[in-house]
Amino acid sequence: MFSSLPSGVVPATLLLLAGVLPSAYSQSPYSINTDDEIRQSARTLAYDLMLFYEGNQTGQIPGILPGPPDDGLGDYYWWQGGAMMGTYIDYWHYTRDTSYNHVIQQGMVHQVGHNRDYQPRNFTASLGNDDQGFWGMSAMLAAETRFPDPPEDQPQWLALAQAVWATQASPERHDEYCNGGMRWQVPLSNNGYNYKNTIANGCFFNIGARLARYTGNDTYVEYAERTWDWLWGVNYIDHETWRVYDGGHVQHNCTDVNKATFSYNIAILMQGAAFLYNYTEDQKWLDRTEKLAERCLRDFFPDGVAYEVPCEHRQGQCTADMLTFKGYVHRWLAVVTQLVPQLRETILPVLRTSAEAAVRQCTGGESGRVCGFYWASGEFVDPAVDSTTGAGEAMNVLAAVESLLVDSAAPPVTNSTGGTSRGDPNAGQNSDIYRTYSPITTADRAGAGIITFLILAGGLGTWGWMSTGS
Ligand SMILES: *[C@@H]1O[C@H](CO)[C@@H](O)[C@H](O)[C@H]1NC(C)=O
Ligand SMILES: *[C@@H]1O[C@H](CO)[C@@H](O)[C@H](O)[C@H]1NC(C)=O
Ligand SMILES: *[C@@H]1O[C@H](CO)[C@@H](O)[C@H](O)[C@H]1NC(C)=O
Ligand SMILES: *[C@@H]1O[C@H](CO)[C@@H](O)[C@H](O)[C@H]1NC(C)=O
Ligand SMILES: *[C@@H]1O[C@H](CO)[C@@H](O)[C@H](O)[C@H]1NC(C)=O
Ligand SMILES: *[C@@H]1O[C@H](CO)[C@@H](O)[C@H](O)[C@H]1NC(C)=O
Repeated sequence: MFSSLPSGVVPATLLLLAGVLPSAYSQSPYSINTDDEIRQSARTLAYDLMLFYEGNQTGQIPGILPGPPDDGLGDYYWWQGGAMMGTYIDYWHYTRDTSYNHVIQQGMVHQVGHNRDYQPRNFTASLGNDDQGFWGMSAMLAAETRFPDPPEDQPQWLALAQAVWATQASPERHDEYCNGGMRWQVPLSNNGYNYKNTIANGCFFNIGARLARYTGNDTYVEYAERTWDWLWGVNYIDHETWRVYDGGHVQHNCTDVNKATFSYNIAILMQGAAFLYNYTEDQKWLDRTEKLAERCLRDFFPDGVAYEVPCEHRQGQCTADMLTFKGYVHRWLAVVTQLVPQLRETILPVLRTSAEAAVRQCTGGESGRVCGFYWASGEFVDPAVDSTTGAGEAMNVLAAVESLLVDSAAPPVTNSTGGTSRGDPNAGQNSDIYRTYSPITTADRAGAGIITFLILAGGLGTWGWMSTGS
């Protein structure tokens, strides 16, 4: 990735081996003291992150990072492409640098799938509601920031966010296990179909909250309330501490709560609550936003520096997914300062100390500016220790730096305050994933019989079927 050195430059690693590493190499080239410095640093970080992206090269797939890992194609999952698109939409919004807009628009549009609802056939076999949700949130962000609209004959940002929401609001994705809520996975043949988790429901909640504010349609508020009440009811949000837990299994009525606290779970609910407060001006959403923000800052920013609690204490523990969470938390906190001005003074200083720590450790690689994941230490740790090539690590730091410009950026628009993206309340109504996607390719073995069995099993409780049914 960083193999093309100008001739005559001795690679830092050789100098390191020789024990003569010049101090210039261990000093980060990034400064973020002024808005100009922030823009300049963000520009370089955005350039370096793009080096991981091959989606705009001939023969490659637009929208995704090299992967998915299960197919041996690279370190990154489909949803992370959607998250990266969102990071660049914010990059443009905050810095006004249009360099990547074309690449991002192309990637966002390429992945919409045949029904324009972010369920492209290539990736539906392993589709999680959260995976689809991350693409939906990036489409929503594009509408809120007035990211350039695609040509008329192509899918539009608002309609795409509505489509994702509508497929997830569909009765097909909800059942009575655990008193409601959505499952993690969409296809019932997947590992994780029996898990109802915070992030899947959190994406649905977040998109609904934002659609409510953008469109002024209260149906979205009703659904978002229902999701919140469910998450509260199953104790995924701790009633005492306001910590947000990961999920539970349908065979235990979701009482076997996995108490791992990943930073993006609390942050996605916090940002959704902030949108709902901004739209409804209801005190309860202000209280909820404040409680979550306070807990988020206290748990995930010890000494003012982002820290991924469940896995960061030991190198090699964070997975490719977890290695990207810090960036979302920074970006979502930034938007909260716009929507809930009371929280501005609390959040902004933390975003700054954390971003300073983030850039301080960007001293790696032959360029001397590659970023790692371990911000608190101040030392670059090669992403190889966590078995990745470093795209998530690079995305986090870009997110932290660009978000520092939030104070001079426009808040998210709505349909009545300058939004131009065309919506479609019927988008996503004809999702055919259940009709065209057979959970397992056993048509020749068992034909429709097994599908019927699986659907029945889905209605009765799916645990255990994998060992008996196939
Ligand atoms: C892909 O995008 C990057 C960043 O904009 C650009 O530098 C590169 O030339 C593009 N490649 C192709 C083949 O368009
Ligand atoms: C699906 O995979 C094919 C073959 O690799 C590729 O050409 C196409 O662009 C992919 N589509 C999407 C939406 O990823
Ligand atoms: C399952 O949990 C819900 C609360 O989430 C409760 O209302 C319901 O009675 C429980 N069902 C069973 C069968 O225990
Ligand atoms: C909602 O957000 C806007 C835009 O930042 C802000 O001006 C307004 O004060 C917010 N409304 C409330 C109730 O905080
Ligand atoms: C959004 O705004 C446009 C232009 O102001 C208007 O024509 C349209 O009806 C609005 N849509 C909704 C859903 O309010
Ligand atoms: C509000 O949104 C819901 C859900 O998409 C839709 O069914 C309804 O038609 C919308 N109402 C209006 C007035 O647009």
